[in-house]
Amino acid sequence: MNVVRQEKYRPSYHFSPKNGWMNDPNGMVYFEGRYHLFYQHHPFGTTWGPMHWGHAVSTDLVNWEERPIALEPDGLGTIFSGSAVVDERDTSGFFEGKPGLVAIYTHHYSLPNTDQIRQYQSLAYSTDSGESWIKYAGNPVLEDEHCIDFRDPKVFWHEPTEQWVMVLACGQTVRIYHSPNLKEWVFASEFGHGIGSHDGVWECPDLFPLWVDGERSQVKWVMLVSIGDHPEIREGSRTQYFTGEFDGTTFVADVESEKVRWLDYGRDNYAGVCWSDIPAEDGRRLFMGWMSNWRYANQTPTERWRGAMSIPRELALETRKGTVALIQRPVRELEGLRTPVLSLTEPSWEEVRNALSALQLDCYELVAEFATTGDFGFKVRVSDEQETLVGYTSATQEVYVDRTRSGCSDFHEDFAVRHGTSLGILPDRMDIRLYVDRSSIEVFFDRGQVAITDLIFPDAEAKGLEIFPSEEQVTLFSLELYALK
Ligand code: FRU
Repeated sequence: MNVVRQEKYRPSYHFSPKNGWMNDPNGMVYFEGRYHLFYQHHPFGTTWGPMHWGHAVSTDLVNWEERPIALEPDGLGTIFSGSAVVDERDTSGFFEGKPGLVAIYTHHYSLPNTDQIRQYQSLAYSTDSGESWIKYAGNPVLEDEHCIDFRDPKVFWHEPTEQWVMVLACGQTVRIYHSPNLKEWVFASEFGHGIGSHDGVWECPDLFPLWVDGERSQVKWVMLVSIGDHPEIREGSRTQYFTGEFDGTTFVADVESEKVRWLDYGRDNYAGVCWSDIPAEDGRRLFMGWMSNWRYANQTPTERWRGAMSIPRELALETRKGTVALIQRPVRELEGLRTPVLSLTEPSWEEVRNALSALQLDCYELVAEFATTGDFGFKVRVSDEQETLVGYTSATQEVYVDRTRSGCSDFHEDFAVRHGTSLGILPDRMDIRLYVDRSSIEVFFDRGQVAITDLIFPDAEAKGLEIFPSEEQVTLFSLELYALK
């Protein structure tokens, strides 16, 4: 990543723009050997402003190279979120019979001298593997005067019915549309009445199939829906998911999805969606989210830039305690960033404490396996005044992150909090996997069953790492530590 490494809070191994503001990941697509990441970008300021699509590319999902801005505002409006697809069979006719990239995005238009807005969907295409983009002369391709919040198209090719499918947020539902050629869209169905959280406007939907427990014969569909900030909801903006069936036209949620299910129990994983067109031989469903929260996104204490993405994660469906749940795991490519620091097997407490107290680290991965009947956890980014706690509380069976003393937090009164969720009875061998960077922590508990993603803003000197067991109740099977980058 071509960024100045010494800048305060600048992530080492998370994507952040060199300059200016960033929010949602957009148009994530794999094409001709490169992963593309586009993103909501205001290049002329460090707060949200007229939206562009910024652009970065990677061959391994972890080392990103920023490219010139892909899409700029025009007479139809600014460029809100959306997706990109490989038009393999040139259904659009943009590519003279060859495969090419098409971006499908929302144009956001403010009517002059009023406070009214319009949102409609448009296309751009690239004949040079995503390096430059041509906006379609027939834009917009989909409008609806009756829906004000009408945005964030995510498009995919549905092989069984041989057509393009678009999921699109409309107020507090998701609409599904069909198209043979990406240019003409027909309404198919609407999802979301009377189900899920309606605590805010629905945004950035995604819909994709996954095997259950890795069984190819058992497919379920997953719908992701991000929910905008609402002043009365203490969590701010967050993302819910549904599991269900999809026949190409209608998404029907499972009974499990009648209760609200969250993708992440931290505060900073928003507007995330999955990569399009990952080759079938790879077979993974790859996800990335924006590591911030609309509650305080415009106030976080960085200078030339604001906003970072989560680490890339692989999504899976696994049956846990009789229910099919969405699991997140860091992608294996992150292993390429590792430098081994510690590897302890069934260590004594003294051994662990001595080993950790000798360390000063700011960017790392920690993996531990343990069994406990008491409280257990780690303190990361520790100095005399600062610490972020990650752990398990036996009284409530809760896994949590506590960032009340994590560093700078006075930019917003809702930032310094502790949060988590109940995991119930722990497995015999419980695992915790932590990714710490200069301004974030991502935690995965119990093989990815619970993810907690949080921004933190510790001082550069806060590099201590501690463990806090009540010894007699905890068995530590293993502890591995890797410096990252
Ligand atoms: C989600 C979102 C989208 C919108 C974009 C604007 O964070 O509000 O719904 O397209 O950000 O930047």
